[in-house]
Amino acid sequence: MPTTPHVLPRQILDWVALLERLDAGDRDGLREHFLALDPDDRRLRFGLPVSDEHIRRYVDGIDLDADVVFGVCSGTGTWLGIGHLTLGREDAELGLSVLPDARGRGLGAAIFRFALAHASRAGVRRVYMHCLTSNRAILSIARAARMEIHSASGEADAYLVVPPYAQFVRMLIDEPATEH
Ligand SMILES: CC(C)(COP(=O)(O)OP(=O)(O)OC[C@H]1O[C@@H](n2cnc3c(N)ncnc32)[C@H](O)[C@@H]1OP(=O)(O)O)[C@@H](O)C(=O)NCCC(=O)NCCS
Repeated sequence: MPTTPHVLPRQILDWVALLERLDAGDRDGLREHFLALDPDDRRLRFGLPVSDEHIRRYVDGIDLDADVVFGVCSGTGTWLGIGHLTLGREDAELGLSVLPDARGRGLGAAIFRFALAHASRAGVRRVYMHCLTSNRAILSIARAARMEIHSASGEADAYLVVPPYAQFVRMLIDEPATEH
């Protein structure tokens, strides 16, 4: 992992600019992205070290119109990072993954921040994620984004509290201005 956190904000911004929403034509690429994850990554992403068959069924079952599935494509057909946000009225579920070669460069943080902003804009107050409290990378990303982490009744119920959208924007305005 990089030891130069000061370079991450610019990289996060660049990754956010590259994010795009997936449609039905991207389902094969989506499948390949998840199949490339090893058992440990699959456990972190899905809560269990799911089989290839499980992943195929999961991808076939995603409603790409109702859900917000977005990510960054390599330009040569490989989806480097994917976020899958399922929105309910007040709650949402987020899963995100970045291929090992692209990690440690802010892509996970970019996907996380985009998803939380989208959820906030949609009026969602809580975002649930698998393995939230045991996933050090996600905890680091969430803390850097100043997100509150709550654990209702044990690890499985951990969720992020999403600020109302106006507060989200206010958090940025209240930050000291960037020096040029
Ligand atoms: C979690 C994941 C998406 C992060 O992607 P990424 O592109 O590497 O993320 P970023 O580069 O934006 O940031 C990683 C942050 O986590 C930290 N980190 C990464 N791996 C870590 C680890 N094993 N222990 C502690 N911190 C770790 C990095 O240092 C960085 O923090 P920093 O900004 O304070 O330096 C990626 O590791 C992944 O796909 N994991 C498997 C699936 C998963 O865990 N999904 C999340 C649950 S749904």
